[in-house]
Amino acid sequence: MPRKTSFLAGLCLATALPACTGFSLSTGPWPSIPPRASYTEPDGDEHVGPAVIVEGLTSDLANPLGSSPMVFDRVNKTYTLDYGRNVAGKPFFQIETLDDFAQIEVKYTESYIGLEHAQADGPYAFSNALGATFRVETFNITKTGEFRGYFIQGAQRWQSIKLVHGSGLTISKAGFVSSISMQPLDSIKGYFAASNSSYTDMWALGPRTEQLDCFPPGTQTATWDITPQGAYIRGQKPASTTHMTNVNNYTLTFETMIDYGGVGWRVDTEIDAIQATGPIFVLTSEYPEGTFANTDRSLVPPNTLVLGRGWSLQNQTSLPGFVLDKFPVDFAVMEKEWHTISTVSLGDSTYKVYLDGREIAAFNISSYGLADPNPFIPGGDNKGFALGPWQDQAAYYRNVILTSNNGNQILYSNNLTSMDVLPEFGVATNTDYICSDGGKRDRYAWLGDRLISAKTGLASTGDWKSVSGSAAQFFSRQTTAGQLPANTLFSPLDTRGVLIRTENVDPLLVDYDFDTVQVVHDYWMRSGDSAFIEKYYNQLVAMVSYSVSRALDLPTQLYGAPTGPKGIPLGGQKAQALGPAETISMILGLERMADMSEFVNNTRSALFYRAQANLSRDAIDTRLWNETGGYYAGTLGFAGFDLMDAAQVLLARVGTPERRAKVIDNLAPLRLPAGYSNGTRYVNTPAVVNPFNMGFLLQGFAMEQRTALAQELLDITWGPMIRQDRNYTGTTWEYLSADGVYPGLDLFTSCSHGWGSYATVFLTDYVLGVRATAPGFATYTFAPLPGFKSEWVHGRVPTPAGEILAAWGYEPSGKLAMEITAPAGLKGTVVVPFSGQYSVDGGQGQEGELEVEGGKTVTICQL
Ligand SMILES: *[C@@H]1O[C@H](CO)[C@@H](O)[C@H](O)[C@H]1NC(C)=O
Ligand SMILES: *[C@@H]1O[C@H](CO)[C@@H](O)[C@H](O)[C@H]1NC(C)=O
Ligand SMILES: *[C@@H]1O[C@H](CO)[C@@H](O)[C@H](O)[C@H]1NC(C)=O
Ligand SMILES: *[C@@H]1O[C@H](CO)[C@@H](O)[C@H](O)[C@H]1NC(C)=O
Ligand SMILES: *[C@@H]1O[C@H](CO)[C@@H](O)[C@H](O)[C@H]1NC(C)=O
Ligand SMILES: *[C@@H]1O[C@H](CO)[C@@H](O)[C@H](O)[C@H]1NC(C)=O
Ligand SMILES: *[C@@H]1O[C@H](CO)[C@@H](O)[C@H](O)[C@H]1NC(C)=O
Ligand SMILES: *[C@@H]1O[C@H](CO)[C@@H](O)[C@H](O)[C@H]1NC(C)=O
Ligand SMILES: *[C@@H]1O[C@H](CO)[C@@H](O)[C@H](O)[C@H]1NC(C)=O
Ligand SMILES: *[C@@H]1O[C@H](CO)[C@@H](O)[C@H](O)[C@H]1NC(C)=O
Ligand SMILES: *[C@@H]1O[C@H](CO)[C@@H](O)[C@H](O)[C@H]1NC(C)=O
Repeated sequence: MPRKTSFLAGLCLATALPACTGFSLSTGPWPSIPPRASYTEPDGDEHVGPAVIVEGLTSDLANPLGSSPMVFDRVNKTYTLDYGRNVAGKPFFQIETLDDFAQIEVKYTESYIGLEHAQADGPYAFSNALGATFRVETFNITKTGEFRGYFIQGAQRWQSIKLVHGSGLTISKAGFVSSISMQPLDSIKGYFAASNSSYTDMWALGPRTEQLDCFPPGTQTATWDITPQGAYIRGQKPASTTHMTNVNNYTLTFETMIDYGGVGWRVDTEIDAIQATGPIFVLTSEYPEGTFANTDRSLVPPNTLVLGRGWSLQNQTSLPGFVLDKFPVDFAVMEKEWHTISTVSLGDSTYKVYLDGREIAAFNISSYGLADPNPFIPGGDNKGFALGPWQDQAAYYRNVILTSNNGNQILYSNNLTSMDVLPEFGVATNTDYICSDGGKRDRYAWLGDRLISAKTGLASTGDWKSVSGSAAQFFSRQTTAGQLPANTLFSPLDTRGVLIRTENVDPLLVDYDFDTVQVVHDYWMRSGDSAFIEKYYNQLVAMVSYSVSRALDLPTQLYGAPTGPKGIPLGGQKAQALGPAETISMILGLERMADMSEFVNNTRSALFYRAQANLSRDAIDTRLWNETGGYYAGTLGFAGFDLMDAAQVLLARVGTPERRAKVIDNLAPLRLPAGYSNGTRYVNTPAVVNPFNMGFLLQGFAMEQRTALAQELLDITWGPMIRQDRNYTGTTWEYLSADGVYPGLDLFTSCSHGWGSYATVFLTDYVLGVRATAPGFATYTFAPLPGFKSEWVHGRVPTPAGEILAAWGYEPSGKLAMEITAPAGLKGTVVVPFSGQYSVDGGQGQEGELEVEGGKTVTICQL
């Protein structure tokens, strides 16, 4: 709440010295704010090359290759390419010389260690994400000139190239044709720097991460090719259609021509959900001469039908994969010839597979006792078939026919020659502006996970489309019931594809809808885009009605334990809700809905949202407060709390300042070297630090003006991300190890994960201290966090009227100077981070808050 302005006009203090040595940005205790560099997105391809190339597989960069070519004079010769920080795109190789043909194995990884693993830091078989599933690719080089990979590799700092077949290969250049914006940071709207360059570097992680994660239309390209001969599909996660779901007792038949390696497909598997339990089939060819020399012949032997289950034939951290069986085929499976494959699913867990009319496998998938469907994980309701070969294979598919076994009725047929196939299977080039959770993974747009990254983009790149564009996609995928997709594919989808996928992961993540209200509200405050609020208001109402009806537990007024579509209580964190964390996400969502309702003159709705928010606020305070423990219980009736319960209490300012102080005191035991652990509510969770959660806590500390705690958290959690070692990516991480050494979740960790980027927002909003208090910064505050340790900080804050320039820093005398220059029309309130008097533009001493007009520079000097 703003304090009253008290001008001590006319009061001349005898002790008043000329406190500030100067009154312009160039002569203050800070350097001048650099002007924004101009930049135009290039029309054509943008190539990005490595910073250093060294011979061998090594992170020791002491002997760089310089401008000499990479000479592959023997099999197994390897070069390591270091791009210095994360880049993304389609790999290219400039081939200078070649004897006959050569095969190179290329690996990609965010942190160096991935290069030492057979699968690099992949595979990522979780979603069809318009990028590579595999992080190791083998290329057949048959001529000189530029060779270009097909798949986008979504984020990597490191790459290795190893010759696996051939000789006489020289590569003069390698790199990526960028799939993301390469805009230099000196040309984006936002800016921040501090005397301590650690903070300058931490801020820069945010906009770079945003560049790795947010994709303008047309940049993420289709991963299937439609040809007159059918769909040509290279090795990737098999993609699902939603046009034929939940059939029992049927036969799936298609024709296929293996181009190289083999062909793959799945049946009866969950469609883009969070489990994958249908059988995986990979049929390998006879491996003729010229087959990739590095083919893993124990995993995928020649002339074999490999049966798998789970996410893939390989494990990747929390994406388990299983090989159940291998069925040798007793004749040669020829490449470059058409074959007919039929899979009979009898609906009782038993399957038969026929190749060109001959039975090659018969099995009962349940009899292996592995990876059976888990009824407590939602999203298993829609199952179907999916098409896609295994790693380093490619095949044509055509004339897919699905017939019922009872009466041979044709239920589905598709010759896969029409371009509609791409949206049907969710593999078409993106037409919306989309933001992903991560560059390499999750290449999925998880709704609630944008809570922090959305702010980062707006505060740093100032690209409003990063929110308005991705919101356009979400709102276009809303169901009539009001549900928004908790996650969604990047590809354009048809109506049925949207409906089935939107319903799939819900209702586990109903709270994501409340997070989305917060994202939209924050967008409105920063961008001033009121037309957007008017446009989507009705859809927001529908979404919130749906979520409240699913989530609100009436007897307690807390966020309740949602149940699955069949009334089954859902597993995991949210089944144990009835606690502060999710309830507060609901409260904050409702309160922001009230603001937006008032704006559109929907007073009744505003009253309703506020009344409900207040009931739930009271419920937390009365039902969950544990006086003995000094915390809000994480779950009604249970002892202990979770880190997010505490963070959310601070963010929503639940309870009295005294209670919140106790909540903060109680965090001490959760302190790890690199942040705070998950909490005490959940036992057996790994001791890793989640920078997403640290973001909420950081803002909570800032709102409570606990500067020392906030600065310490900033240093310990984000310090490791700016450390220039071989794990550095120039972007923010999804998790980090408790000791800050990294990686938090092994190779699985996404190291360009926007949810970890709150440091950027914190530095702009609270350290520089410029925050909107009305849409579009029509009114704003300049209120730096008192006592933040830095000699000076300065920056630019994007607003729809142009940038606000702000700075503060200490004079040699130890007094603080501040300066603000806002575009005309914006009204600021300066809250000085010290007590006592100050002068304005060299005038007489005054105290309290100060109102400033835009269109000029105002300098404030502590007296
Ligand atoms: C290449 O390395 C693999 C294993 O790393 C080894 O089995 C093979 O013999 C090597 N080939 C040559 C030609 O050195
Ligand atoms: C690589 O190219 C050679 C020469 O054209 C060819 O014989 C071989 O089959 C190709 N291998 C693959 C895996 O495409
Ligand atoms: C994946 O890990 C599980 C154990 O978590 C193991 O049972 C399974 O065999 C592994 N799969 C592969 C392909 O190694
Ligand atoms: C398949 O295997 C499961 C588990 O062993 C068994 O319960 C089931 O009866 C089998 N089904 C058929 C049709 O054999
Ligand atoms: C599947 O259909 C076939 C043919 O009508 C029938 O013989 C068989 O019993 C059915 N299987 C199941 C499990 O219903
Ligand atoms: C394949 O589908 C297209 C469009 O759906 C149709 O025009 C064409 O006749 C079909 N071809 C075959 C061989 O079925
Ligand atoms: C709300 O009502 C006010 C006063 O009648 C009007 O000026 C304003 O345009 C209305 N806002 C909207 C979004 O309809
Ligand atoms: C309150 O907190 C204390 C200390 O953590 C704990 O021992 C006690 O069981 C809690 N009370 C309830 C009702 O959960
Ligand atoms: C934190 O706790 C939640 C809730 O149990 C759990 O889902 C999550 O995996 C934990 N995360 C980490 C990194 O420990
Ligand atoms: C700069 O900040 C880092 C924390 O991120 C801290 O470790 C270091 O001591 C600071 N340097 C100075 C000169 O204050
Ligand atoms: C980088 O991460 C690895 C684990 O992936 C860890 O062992 C190592 O200590 C980290 N730091 C450096 C400098 O390699």
